[in-house]
Formats: sequence, C-alpha cells, structure tokens
Amino acid sequence: MSDKSFRWTSRSVDETKKGAALLASYIQPGTVITLDGEVGAGKTHFTQGLAVGMGITGVVNSPTFSLVKSYEGRKLPLYHMDLYRLSQEEAEELGLEEMIEGQGVSVVEWSDRIAELLPAGRIEIRIEILDLNHREIEVIPYGTEMLQVVQDWMKAIRSETG
Ligand SMILES: Nc1ncnc2c1ncn2[C@@H]1O[C@H](COP(=O)(O)OP(=O)(O)OP(=O)(O)O)[C@@H](O)[C@H]1O
Ligand SMILES: [Mg+2]
Repeated sequence: MSDKSFRWTSRSVDETKKGAALLASYIQPGTVITLDGEVGAGKTHFTQGLAVGMGITGVVNSPTFSLVKSYEGRKLPLYHMDLYRLSQEEAEELGLEEMIEGQGVSVVEWSDRIAELLPAGRIEIRIEILDLNHREIEVIPYGTEMLQVVQDWMKAIRSETG
C-alpha cells in the first residue's frame, strides 16, 4: 500500500528535465521508477533529465525498438525500458527481471506490461497532459524508504522551481 501521493505541475520540458535531474541525488542502488502516461506525456523527457542528474552524458532516447537501453552513470547504471511493444516471451529474453532486481536504477515506461515483476518498494510516476507545455506529475512512493526519497525530492523541486 502507498502512504501518500505528491503532485507537481511542470510548466515546460525544461522544468520536467530539471525536476527529474534533482531526483538523482536521492535515489539509491536498486531504485525502480515506473513512468506511465499517454503517448507524448513526457516519460522519455523525464528519463533524459534523470540521466543528466546521474551523470550520463550520452543521448538518452526512446528505446522503443530495442525496448531496453542501459547507460553508465557517475555512480549507478540506468536501465531505461520502454515496454509499449513488449510481448510476454520478450520479457524473459530481455532479462528485465534481473535488471529490476539489480543494483542499477530502473526506469520503466508502460510498466503495466510487467506489473508482476515490480518490487513492493518503488516510485510510481504518472504524467498527465494539461496543455501544450503543462504536465501534471503525480508521484506515488511505495514503501517507507521510497517515501523518504520522494519527500526529499519534492522539497528540492519546491525550492528550485518555487
Ligand atoms: N512540461 C513538459 N514536460 C515534458 N514534455 C513536454 C512538456 N511540455 C511539452 N512537452 C512535449 O511533450 C512531448 C513528450 O515526449 P516524450 O517522448 O517525452 O513522451 P513519452 O511519454 O515518452 O511518449 P511515448 O509514450 O511515445 O514514449 C515532447 O514533444 C515535449 O516537447
Ligand atoms: Mg517515451
């Protein structure tokens, strides 16, 4: 069960990226983040911001065709999964379970495809399109450790974006 949910309204792509980058300071090895929201909501842009925060310098783009891409961050690897086109057999072939249970940071777009593989402790993020540049970002931490992470992250966002 989740304890709490937090909301943050992003007013631009840049704000989404900067806000996501701030999360990098608080995540721990093995953190799993699910990103849901319709096509074009901003899931991949959020991931790009997080990657910058984790010290990843290369371009992070949507792994729609490969489904998974991994990047070497300053401290931790980032596994970016876009499971929109995932089939059941692929979930096993791609080794998603190993990534999710590993020490890296897993970001999962379209996480409902692998709901049964998600750990009890995780951060759920739902992005809703309000208009051209505005996004309502709802953050739901599961487990007390992730609640602390999200509380610290939200405090940082509030002080940076006002
Ligand atoms: N505040 C905002 N935050 C994020 N993206 C925004 C914002 N305002 C506008 N956008 C635009 O919304 C689009 C988001 O695209 P993105 O690829 O990140 O979406 P997605 O959720 O990953 O989609 P898909 O399901 O196709 O992978 C981009 O074109 C971006 O410029
Ligand atoms: Mg995407």
